[in-house]
Amino acid sequence: MKKILLCASTRPEMIKMAPLYLELKNRSYFDPLLFSTGQHKEMLYQVCEAFHIKPDFDLEIMKERQDLFDITGSILSKAKELLKAIHPDIVLVHGDTTSSLALALACFYLQIPVGHVEAGLRTYNIYSPFPEEFNRQAVDIVSQYSFAPTELSRDNLLREGKKAETIYVTGNTVIDAMRHTVRSNYTHSELDWVGSNRLIFITAHRRENLGIPMHHMFRAIRRVLEEHDDVKAVYPIHLNPVVREAAEEELEGCEKIHLIEPIGVFDCHNFESRSYLCLTDSGGIQEECPSYGVPVLVMRDTTERPEGIDAGTLRLVGTDEKTIYETFTKLLENKEEYEKMSKSINPYGDGHACERIADILEGKEYQAWDSKYLACKGVVNFPMDVPNII
Ligand code: UD1
Ligand code: UDP
Repeated sequence: MKKILLCASTRPEMIKMAPLYLELKNRSYFDPLLFSTGQHKEMLYQVCEAFHIKPDFDLEIMKERQDLFDITGSILSKAKELLKAIHPDIVLVHGDTTSSLALALACFYLQIPVGHVEAGLRTYNIYSPFPEEFNRQAVDIVSQYSFAPTELSRDNLLREGKKAETIYVTGNTVIDAMRHTVRSNYTHSELDWVGSNRLIFITAHRRENLGIPMHHMFRAIRRVLEEHDDVKAVYPIHLNPVVREAAEEELEGCEKIHLIEPIGVFDCHNFESRSYLCLTDSGGIQEECPSYGVPVLVMRDTTERPEGIDAGTLRLVGTDEKTIYETFTKLLENKEEYEKMSKSINPYGDGHACERIADILEGKEYQAWDSKYLACKGVVNFPMDVPNII
């Protein structure tokens, strides 16, 4: 039996690692253990509850207004003895958080093999997103297995000199999660409040957007909402107090928007799928919305997910108030512009990424995810109401 340690320490990591953990647990070849640094607390356990899982280990490092030194330093000092005691055959880390970086580094120091799930995403701007672009590049350097979600992420790794035989194109595991969350008969009181108005879904949290950029983003959003009668917005605010202060300052008192607590992953995916438009600086939402054909205005200067831009569903609008205001307004008022973006093309996966990763780790043959092939076959629409595995 292969002892695999799966690390998931923040909300998006847990959403994307939970289906993989469940897949490995279903196979007798593996002895999977779930590990969290505790970089997130409430937001992490909200996901665990939804998937009915619980970390076997939690370093519980989170503190309010933590900085990057807090996160990296406390993980490195706490993980060493635990990793030595667990002695896993392989450690799987995800994406680009500072937890993933610190754990990959700890494994490198202890010479434990690392597999990187969601490898090869790049902006090639080390400060955007910050610190994620550095984190993922560094994790890719120390990984023995690179599970690239798309052909484009594989090509990035090849260009950087990673050996072809260590890279596997699997699709993104977030699509696996979505197959089990989106339901056609879903209801929620916030959706009742929106009624027949157009739903605008908003999230924001990026470190490089904290401060002035975030205030500009919110001001633009408020102006547009107040100028349009038939739109209502729902914004589940991240628990970061800096984000909450900015959101409350700029958006409180606006009757067109509901500021709510972070919602569970089932709610979030169902809200997104029913949205007219999404405004976000999130990474994961850029992968989810294209699957439903919901246009996304990405409030960032760069994206590591250009597949969605090519597919037409994502548009980079940066954090300038005027640009966000104008683009958001145009998409509400110009049907043709909107329809250009609203296409059901899903470049990020077919919902079978976890099976592929498990097959690879088991040494079995695997069929790479090929978005172009499936798109030609017409397999582009999102499968709703797949029998629930959870
Ligand atoms: C982190 C990741 C980012 C990822 C994001 C997903 C880093 C540096 N950043 O950013 O890549 O996109 O998670 O959401 O790895 N907090 C709580 N409870 C929680 C979670 C957060 O109270 O469950 C508050 C705490 O005050 C914490 C603050 O939010 O100090 C910021 O959390 P942190 O993980 O440092 O940053 P994120 O913006 O969440
Ligand atoms: N999400 C959620 N509840 C919320 C907001 C987001 O479950 O209130 C989900 C969302 O569907 C996506 C993930 O969290 O799967 C994105 O997380 P986040 O934006 O925090 O991080 P990022 O993807 O930017 O790393």
